Amino acid sequence: MKLENRRIVLGITGSIAAYKAIEILRNLQKAGAEVRVAMTPSALKFVSKLTLQTLSEYPVYYEAIPEDSVEIRHTSLSAWGELFIVAPATANTIAKIACGIADNPVTDLALCFGKGIICPAMNVRMYENPVTQENLKKLKQLGYEIVEPGRGFLACKEEGKGRLAEVEDILDAAFYWFVPKLLKGKKVVVTAGATREYIDPVRFISNPSSGKMGFAVAKAARGAGAEVTLITGKTHLRTPYGIKRIDVETVEEMKEAVLEAVKDADIYISAAAIGDYKPAKREEKKIKKSKEKLILELERTPDILKLVGERKRRGQIIVGFAAETDNLVENAREKIEKKNLDGIVANDIKKGIFGSDKTEVFFITRKEVSTISGLKEEVALEVIKLIYENFFKGVE
Ligand SMILES: Cc1cc2nc3c(=O)[nH]c(=O)nc-3n(C[C@H](O)[C@H](O)[C@H](O)COP(=O)(O)O)c2cc1C
Repeated sequence: MKLENRRIVLGITGSIAAYKAIEILRNLQKAGAEVRVAMTPSALKFVSKLTLQTLSEYPVYYEAIPEDSVEIRHTSLSAWGELFIVAPATANTIAKIACGIADNPVTDLALCFGKGIICPAMNVRMYENPVTQENLKKLKQLGYEIVEPGRGFLACKEEGKGRLAEVEDILDAAFYWFVPKLLKGKKVVVTAGATREYIDPVRFISNPSSGKMGFAVAKAARGAGAEVTLITGKTHLRTPYGIKRIDVETVEEMKEAVLEAVKDADIYISAAAIGDYKPAKREEKKIKKSKEKLILELERTPDILKLVGERKRRGQIIVGFAAETDNLVENAREKIEKKNLDGIVANDIKKGIFGSDKTEVFFITRKEVSTISGLKEEVALEVIKLIYENFFKGVE
C-alpha cells in the first residue's frame, strides 16, 4: 500500500462509527501517510480527542474558534494536507458541506479543501432520504469521491445501506486519489490468479499463482480512473474498492467470462496464470487409490489471449503477462505477433515470482523494452502508465 509521506487530514463527525476513525488513522499511518485530525463538536462525544491526538502525534483541531491559539487551523491544515477524508461523515456534515456551511473544524476545512473523500455512515432512512442523496450527488459533481456505505445490520438495529465502508475500501480510495487519471473513461478487463482443472470432484491441477499481480494491476487501473472488471481464479485476496469482480475456476469458465467482458473493453490485461493443460476426462466420482500407478491424460485448454487477439476491435489494446525462463524479449515479441497483442509483461520465473510482494518485469512492445522492478503495486502502476504512454497518449 503506497501512501508514503502523503499528508492527509482526517475529519471525524458525530456518527456511532466514529470509533472506526481510529482504525482508519492507524491504517493510513501504516501505509506511510502522516495524518492530522479534525473533529466536530458532536464527534468529541463519540471518541476522545486524547486518543486521536496521541495516535496522530499532533494536536487535534476541535474548536473552530479557539480561545488561545494564534494559528488559523482551517487554512493552515488545508494548505498542509494533500487529501481531506471525512470518515465517518454524518448526514448533517454532508448537508453542510454541500451547502458551503462552515461552522466547525470539519466543515471549515471542507470549504477550504473544496474536494476530498467522503465516507458516509448513517441510518438507512437518513442515507436513502432524497435530500442526502441529492447532497451526495452534488458533492460528487464538485469533485468529492464518495466511498459508498455498506449494507447490513446497523447500530440502530435496522437493516440496510448506511454502514461505514470497510476500512480497507477507504484506504483503497485514498490510494486511488493519488494516481494520475490517465485512463479516465476507459473500460479495462483484467484477469488474475490461477485456474483449476479438475481430475475428479476433489482433485485438481493448478499452479501457485497468488493473484497478487493481477489484483495490483486492476487496482492501478481503477486508480487511473478506469472502469475495471477483474476476472479471477481462486484466491484469498480481497476485492479492491470500486472494482467489479467475477470469480471463475476453470479455463473454460475464464474464457466465457473474458470473451463476454472484452466485447466493450478498451484494454484487456491478462495477468492470470491460466493452465495450458487439463485432464482429458474429468471423473464424476472420486478416483479410488487402489492402483499403484495412475496415468493422467492431458489435453490443451483454449488459449484465451489468442482468442481475444483474434476478436480484437480497432483501438482495443491487449497486453499479456508471460512467465519465461529464457530469451524473454524474443519469446515475448513472437507472442505479440502470433496472438495479435500490443504488449507483453514478461516475468523471469527463475527469479521467483509466485506469491511474492515484489517482482521484476520487462514491459515489451513491438518497439520498446522497459524494465520495471519493485513492489507489485508499484510495478502495476508503472505498467498502467506505460500502457497509457505507448498506446493512448496523444491519441485522444
Ligand atoms: C448515538 C448516536 C449515534 C448517531 N449516529 C449517527 C450516524 O451514524 N450518522 C449520522 O449521520 N448521524 C448520527 N447521529 C446524529 C448526529 O450525531 C447529529 O446529526 C449531529 O448533529 C451530527 O453532528 P456533526 O455532523 O457536526 O458531527 C447519531 C446520534 C446519536 C445520539
